[in-house]
This record gives sequence, C-alpha cells and structure tokens, in this order.
Amino acid sequence: MPDKFQKELLETVAQVRGLLEDLQQLGVVEVPMGPDPNPRSPCSLEGQNSANDSRVETLLEIRDDLGDCQRCALSKGREQIVFGAGSATARLVLVGESPGRKEDQQGVPFVGEAGALLERILFAMGLKREDIYICNIQKCRPPKNRDPRPEEVAACVPFLKRQLAALQPQLIVTLGSFASQTLLETSQPILELRGHWQSYADIPVMPTYHPAFLLRNPATKREVWEDMKQVITRLRQENF
Ligand code: URA
Repeated sequence: MPDKFQKELLETVAQVRGLLEDLQQLGVVEVPMGPDPNPRSPCSLEGQNSANDSRVETLLEIRDDLGDCQRCALSKGREQIVFGAGSATARLVLVGESPGRKEDQQGVPFVGEAGALLERILFAMGLKREDIYICNIQKCRPPKNRDPRPEEVAACVPFLKRQLAALQPQLIVTLGSFASQTLLETSQPILELRGHWQSYADIPVMPTYHPAFLLRNPATKREVWEDMKQVITRLRQENF
C-alpha cells in the first residue's frame, strides 16, 4: 500500500478509536447514526427563526459594526477576531470563553483540541457544527490564554448579546465557568450551575463543563452527556 494511503488509513483508525473512546467515556449507550440528514426531522436544527423576519439587525451588520475592533487591549495581541461560526438560523447556540491560539490563527471558534472533542459530543447528539452556531464571550485571544479582564469582558459582551438577539436561538449551552457566569451574570460556581436550566433573555440556557476541562478530567464527560441529553430532549420537544 502506498505510504500516503497507509498514513491516511492510520489517521482514520486513530480518529475512529478516539471517537469510540469518547462515546464510551460520555456514557453513550448506543452508537449514534451520525448527523441527521433530514432537515425536517425532529432532531434537526434547521428552520427559519421567526424573530429573524422582523427588523432585528443581522449577524453581518453586527460583524460590520465590530469592524477592526480596538475597543480593548486584547486587540493588540490578536491575529484575528473570532466572531462566531455556524448557521444563522441555528436553534442551538454554544457559547465558550475566548479563542485560543488555533482559533486566533484561523478566525474560527473551537478548532483546537477542545473543539475536536466538542465536535464528537455534537456527533453523539446527532448534530454537526453547521447545524448550530458557536461563539465565545470574548472575540480576541487573551495573551497566553489568561482570563479575560473585566474591562475586556465589558467591551465584548454587548456584541455577543447582539448576536444572540439576532440569532434568537431556542436554546443556549454555555461551556464552562467563565461563559456561564458571564452570560448569566452570576457568581454561582459551575459545579452548581451545570445540569440545571437557567435563563438568558427568556432563552433557556444549559450550563455545562468546558471541553478543555473534560480533556483534563475525562471522568466528567458523563456529566456533560447528561446535560446534553437534556438539551436534545428539549430541542425535540420544542420542534413541534
Ligand atoms: N476555548 C473556548 O472557550 N473557545 C474557543 O473558541 C476555543 C477554546
């Protein structure tokens, strides 16, 4: 077998093994069939948002307004603004903390190792990235991935809120302590928040652990899977 194909085959085997390991650690009892191909089926996240019909500003308009943002010091060290990615009609929005190195380089949220795990969790839910919308509290990478400072959060959060107003998702999942506490304006620890429905602007929010935390603590994947099962159930209920 040519070296190139052998390498690709080994990579694919490693990916499948990683996926199966994650599914087992999550506690997924059935191997899912993969992302739902039928946009009208109960698990699909496609569909027109009625709120998008009224004159709410669009994601593009918000991106335009953000421009080459210099509103806080994070602009100095960034390579790219990471605005958000996914479907503008998504019914589910995931909110993370801030871009890391890879996200800063590529301008897309969750493309590093934590993102790969997130994609596998989505797969277990029968979803893929294109079905949902993913963004962060901060749009620029903090140097050395330090915690964002209050003035940096204050400068950035209004844009996230405008994105959420434009998207009008049916559900939001906040990933990790920082995203959950910031969006929900609470100091309650993630340990208490996760797994319990909260609310932001009348939109149900499910706080859960950050995928980077799961990479360091694989045993906690099961708790995230419990949270995501609640999300799937609610999406199905709300999809008529
Ligand atoms: N962690 C986050 O919170 N967001 C990203 O986009 C990447 C890693």
